[in-house]
Amino acid sequence: MAWVHHGLGLLLVLLLPTVPASSPGAVIRINRAALNYVSDVGKAPLQRALMVMVPPCLDWSGEMLQAIKIKILDVHVSHLDLKFIADFGLHLMAKANFTIKVFRIPEPLELTLPVALTADAHVAQGPIGTPMISLSTCSPLFSPASVLDGSNSTSAMLLVLVQKHIKAILSNKVCLRISNLVQGLNVHLGTLIGLSPVGPESQIRYSMVSKPIVTDDYIALDVNAVFFLLGKPIIPPLAATSFELPLSVDTTGAMVSVGLSQQLFNYVLLLLQKAGTLNLDITGDLSSDDNPLNTSVLGQFIPEVAQQFPNPMSVVLKVQLGATPVVMFHTHNATMSLQLFVEVLAVSSNSDFQSLFSLEVAVNLSLQLSVSKVKLQGTTSMLGDIRLAVAASNVGFIDVKHVHTLVGSLLQKPLLDHLNALLGMGIALPSVVNLYYNSPEVFVYEGYVVISSGLVYQR
Ligand SMILES: *[C@@H]1O[C@H](CO)[C@@H](O)[C@H](O)[C@H]1NC(C)=O
Ligand SMILES: *[C@@H]1O[C@H](CO)[C@@H](O)[C@H](O)[C@H]1NC(C)=O
Ligand SMILES: *[C@@H]1O[C@H](CO)[C@@H](O)[C@H](O)[C@H]1NC(C)=O
Ligand SMILES: *[C@@H]1O[C@H](CO)[C@@H](O)[C@H](O)[C@H]1NC(C)=O
Ligand SMILES: *[C@@H]1O[C@H](CO)[C@@H](O)[C@H](O)[C@H]1NC(C)=O
Repeated sequence: MAWVHHGLGLLLVLLLPTVPASSPGAVIRINRAALNYVSDVGKAPLQRALMVMVPPCLDWSGEMLQAIKIKILDVHVSHLDLKFIADFGLHLMAKANFTIKVFRIPEPLELTLPVALTADAHVAQGPIGTPMISLSTCSPLFSPASVLDGSNSTSAMLLVLVQKHIKAILSNKVCLRISNLVQGLNVHLGTLIGLSPVGPESQIRYSMVSKPIVTDDYIALDVNAVFFLLGKPIIPPLAATSFELPLSVDTTGAMVSVGLSQQLFNYVLLLLQKAGTLNLDITGDLSSDDNPLNTSVLGQFIPEVAQQFPNPMSVVLKVQLGATPVVMFHTHNATMSLQLFVEVLAVSSNSDFQSLFSLEVAVNLSLQLSVSKVKLQGTTSMLGDIRLAVAASNVGFIDVKHVHTLVGSLLQKPLLDHLNALLGMGIALPSVVNLYYNSPEVFVYEGYVVISSGLVYQR
């Protein structure tokens, strides 16, 4: 998981081969609920960031110059609020109390200094297709400090001097620290474009294709998916149609809503087809009693098989795709159609294969989608019956009805098991490191699916 490593991940991305200009799309809509969550989990990092070093304060008032050591003991962020600024980005409002120890002689002094922070940040599309946040304004507004300890022996002059010193230092450092925090966040968001596995030897990478759309209610990121097979990008057969997540899809309650186009799914299937992972062999084991895959069973309705194979031989079904599978999304209903080419072969004792006949098989499947952590998984089940036609025969006339009964039932379970194992591995959804989908729900609409979900940050 090298791309987990931020800097290295970004470097790798720069070295990746160039990718097709247009590829199927997805939309990530980040809603207000997500900002509330960030406000919650962001308090602790903000507190840590605000623990700055304050150099000693020089006091010229006495007979000789005194350097008064100053230390921030604690920062408490009581309030952190993030809002969208339409067509721009984000607004941050925070309230914090600094607890400060002033090592004054003869006895130390403890102060609390309240500060209200406001900052605006522009959200844009970075040069390598990652979201990029940049601080445009930042201003700390200090209230007068109050003395917690040692108040009855503090001179007003000293208090003024110390406060002035601390405020001057903090005014500079606080915004610098917030800016660093934002830089760190950008590196983290940059992991959006990391490669994630789709299947054996194939990977997916999402990246932003246009600048984000910011409204008062959400930020929408237009992303595309590029698939890699053995490290090379797969060029989609058709130019991608741009995909928009309709506003009518009510997603306001969820932190994030991810819309994935039907085209993206078809692209995944194309990838699996190109990788050859959808093909399978269904083999019969002669020693097994209830395995009907043998020539004596076929011979019962294909006389020529009985003639050619007086001794029972086991039979193999070689299942290959006849065309790229097609996924279709209708409201509340996802289906997948497969066209298969099935070759039926007899296996002789010395492992020679002899082709008996081949079939064209059409199957419609119902597709159920679910999300686990950051992956979209699929489960298929039969939708209606298998349709089957004889494509070629080396064993004379074949009664399709008989073949349908036998081969149809033989094909179903292994095919579904195989598909479900593949789709169960899941397709990585757009995500960044350590951020997971939480209580996701999948909705199927006309031509796309929407994953509405909470988010949870886990290190
Ligand atoms: C900050 O300090 C002030 C003064 O001591 C106090 O009134 C206020 O409640 C404190 N706020 C927080 C969040 O600690
Ligand atoms: C200074 O404060 C302490 C408690 O903080 C109190 O006991 C003491 O009487 C005070 N001294 C004066 C001179 O006010
Ligand atoms: C062929 O399959 C049938 C049906 O499962 C079975 O009864 C028979 O024993 C098998 N023959 C051999 C030689 O395995
Ligand atoms: C899905 O929709 C198709 C087309 O409208 C329909 O034929 C099929 O029966 C539906 N399947 C389910 C599981 O609702
Ligand atoms: C699969 O579904 C499509 C669309 O509903 C239909 O036209 C086709 O006949 C179906 N095929 C099979 C094998 O059921």
